[in-house]
Amino acid sequence: MASEIVLIITEQRNRQRITLPSGKAPYRFGRSPQCEFVLRRNNVGDRQFSLGYEGNFWFVRDDGSADGTWYNNRYIHAGESCRLQVGDSIGLNTNNDAATQEITFRVEEIRTAQGAGGLQRENDAPALLRELDVKKKKKILIGRGEDCDVTLTSDRVSRHHCEITYTDGHCEVRDLGSTNGTFVNGQRVHSAVLSNGAVINVPTQVFAFSNGVLHFHENKVGISVELADVFKTVKDRNTGKPLNIVDGSSLIIDPNSFVVFVGGSGTGKSSLLTCITGSAPCTAGSVCFDRIDTKGNRNAFDAVLGYVPQRDIMHDNLTVAQSLSFTAKLRIAHDATRGEIQSAVAHAIEAVDLTGHEKTMISNLSGGQKKRVSIAMELLASPRLLVLDEPTSGLSPDLDRSMMELCRRLSHNNCTVIMVTHNMDNINLCDKIAFLGRGGVLCYYGTPEKLNPYFDVELTSDIFEKLGKPDEVEYYRQKYYTTPEFNRVCMAYPEAAEEADKRCSK
Ligand SMILES: Nc1ncnc2c1ncn2[C@@H]1O[C@H](COP(=O)(O)OP(=O)(O)O)[C@@H](O)[C@H]1O
Ligand SMILES: [Mg+2]
Repeated sequence: MASEIVLIITEQRNRQRITLPSGKAPYRFGRSPQCEFVLRRNNVGDRQFSLGYEGNFWFVRDDGSADGTWYNNRYIHAGESCRLQVGDSIGLNTNNDAATQEITFRVEEIRTAQGAGGLQRENDAPALLRELDVKKKKKILIGRGEDCDVTLTSDRVSRHHCEITYTDGHCEVRDLGSTNGTFVNGQRVHSAVLSNGAVINVPTQVFAFSNGVLHFHENKVGISVELADVFKTVKDRNTGKPLNIVDGSSLIIDPNSFVVFVGGSGTGKSSLLTCITGSAPCTAGSVCFDRIDTKGNRNAFDAVLGYVPQRDIMHDNLTVAQSLSFTAKLRIAHDATRGEIQSAVAHAIEAVDLTGHEKTMISNLSGGQKKRVSIAMELLASPRLLVLDEPTSGLSPDLDRSMMELCRRLSHNNCTVIMVTHNMDNINLCDKIAFLGRGGVLCYYGTPEKLNPYFDVELTSDIFEKLGKPDEVEYYRQKYYTTPEFNRVCMAYPEAAEEADKRCSK
């Protein structure tokens, strides 16, 4: 199958986009004039690395450089090759400071021909299910280090994070003094004997244990979020009676999708968001991440979650880079080197398009740029779910588009993104919209294209008016029950179907 890879090359402030067809691969990068891409820079090898295409996949391979080639957040060395996915980055040092990547090559897109048609955008690779037999291997080491049996490429993971051993007929997990912890069934542990069905969590990775075998999805993808019949009931401050501010929401958010929550003021958007983040958990129903109920597992999931609140919390008298470095030191594993911290900061700055502003004081940034710094702070922890509450409220309308574009890009970069917004101008950039009506009722969940026809309106703004009326809200709540999106929830969570039947028979 023919394929094309699109790379963004950044060198200091210069940026260039190149598209490489698979037909002419491999492409060599280095000082030698024989290379397809000649890089005459200090510390770059004659043959530094190459990009190849084999078996329908793109690979980066270090071709025997002296200093190694940086791949995402580690070095690969002579002869080592890694499969490339959208969002990956390759970096080279051209000075003697190991901490900075002077040239970066980021994989922007991979297009692969499908059948007779033209080139199509490839979806991010699905997760691969892996199995490790603990009984057979006796000891499995998990961590960021290259000597580990399971290497996790996140700065939140310690070099030697934990190990799983088999001795005297039982399997046991032992935390090796990690910074961010090892969790078994939601509890942080120093060591624990593993029983059948145990769920082990370390930052960015979940393992399931059964019959002496460790199962895990080797993934680089965002997590899925499943809401089944979620309620938030509070005591009404006026009447003292129970009041539902989130009223039976059920929906499935796919991994690596970008979903936007919209609705009039007071329709429970923020409340629904806090049910998902767990900062104010739901009072009934279930919120699952990757099909695991978050109830009782919150601590374990903290590591995968990034939350950007409406108000930015930052020190004005620091530069962008300083402020991110401070955050990085708090969030990244304590055994991270200065180099690892600096490159994490550099990658986060690049991800939010603030390259060139590293030395700018926070106080001199515009509102939109400050918001980007807040997002970069969350990205330092490599979240698999990023949640933003009205990131553009109070900012000028033209910033909305770039914020939506940023979120879309992040969602293609190993992260699921949920955003609350009140601005409908650029709504076509998201994958799905959840529209809430008065009383915290989910009235629509689906693609932007189907939104207006579903509500039978010409202008999206008319939906807000409709969903201010209780009888319309009830009508659309029940209409949602007839959609394929709701059906998907019912297949996985039958209790959602029961609740729907009850509602409809009223
Ligand atoms: N204790 C309470 N008594 C009465 N109403 C409440 C209480 N707590 C929250 N609410 C109401 O719940 C609604 C949902 O709030 P929120 O989630 O912030 O909405 P949004 O983010 O969509 O503007 C608001 O109308 C708020 O006034
Ligand atoms: Mg709100």
